[in-house]
Amino acid sequence: MILCADPSAQFDSYQTEIEEAVLAVMRSNRYVLGEEVASLEKEFADYIETTSAIGVANGTDAIELALRALGIGVGDEVITVSHTAVATIAAIEATGADAVLVDVEPEYYTLNPNQLEEVFSVKTRAIIAVHLYGQSANLDVITDFCKIKNIFLIEDASQAHGAKYKGKRLGSIGDIGCFSCYPTKNLGAIGDAGLITTKDTDLATKIRMLREYGWNNRISEYPGRNSRLDEIQAAVLRIKLKYLDSDNEKRRQIAQYYMANLADSQTSLPVIRLDNESVFHLFVIQVEKRQELLDYLLSKGIQAGIHDPVPVHLQPAYKNRVKLASNMRVTENLSNKIVSLPMYPELSIQEAAEIINAVKSFFEEQGC
Ligand SMILES: Cc1ncc(COP(=O)(O)O)c(C=O)c1O
Repeated sequence: MILCADPSAQFDSYQTEIEEAVLAVMRSNRYVLGEEVASLEKEFADYIETTSAIGVANGTDAIELALRALGIGVGDEVITVSHTAVATIAAIEATGADAVLVDVEPEYYTLNPNQLEEVFSVKTRAIIAVHLYGQSANLDVITDFCKIKNIFLIEDASQAHGAKYKGKRLGSIGDIGCFSCYPTKNLGAIGDAGLITTKDTDLATKIRMLREYGWNNRISEYPGRNSRLDEIQAAVLRIKLKYLDSDNEKRRQIAQYYMANLADSQTSLPVIRLDNESVFHLFVIQVEKRQELLDYLLSKGIQAGIHDPVPVHLQPAYKNRVKLASNMRVTENLSNKIVSLPMYPELSIQEAAEIINAVKSFFEEQGC
């Protein structure tokens, strides 16, 4: 079976190094927030070309703590997209703030800046730009809007570790960058992990406090909670960080191969934003007969995915409750058509060819 994502294949790639690093942590007698976390934070900040990185327990916490550090909570509104992992919205609501959701751009699937003015209110304190599927949101326009309105910009770069916008790493452009390091992400741990980046050292200090009960020398200065990162995850992430650029390059090569060979099929292929370097966290196509294609691929031993199947504003927990832009048509259409083809650095070109052939033969059998 060719899986949609395959984190164990990455473990196989770096097995010796990972096993040694994990064993060293186990022998170290320091399992949480130790030297591995401190080194990862330094190395990740350098990689993102920013000043500070802070390790936290997962990507959802990264967003929640980023918002809390900016003083955002009850009575505030945060604008983001509905076409994202539910985590983005869950994190906003965890602070007590209200999420306000807008549609996405039809070509790039990221936040549609044209709707920002419509949903902006006196309560708006921040925008979370989600860099979906590996590529940047329209940061120039969103950044300008934030400046004009004097609100914060948070980048949710959970699907875009290493991607660039106009030469700058995502996560280094807004006030704060948030990353999930869930195992299937471009920089994935062997469990849950997250990272927060910022150029503002005061904010970084506050986030460090917030991840551990709001502590300053073991006295709670802020009402915080526990979102510590453990040493094993940090040790594994440090190894994978060394290979992130080459792993992202492999993803780009697979994407190019898909693009070249599916160009004349009945699918809509990803469109890459100008001045943007995608890291193809996912390779998402659009097809009309989505379920039929998924079933067909599965019958050929290929597992494709849907990211994400239902827009957040239509999920039971949020339906008829979250504030929305008046037109969510692109998001609602996309959710019926998107298919994520297998994408991970270890996917071989032979496997990619098998996937392409299966997609093509599906359309032939459909009489397209
Ligand atoms: C865009 C986005 N934001 C946030 C998250 C949340 O990350 P985590 O699952 O590590 O909490 C994810 C992970 O799925 C994501 O894809």
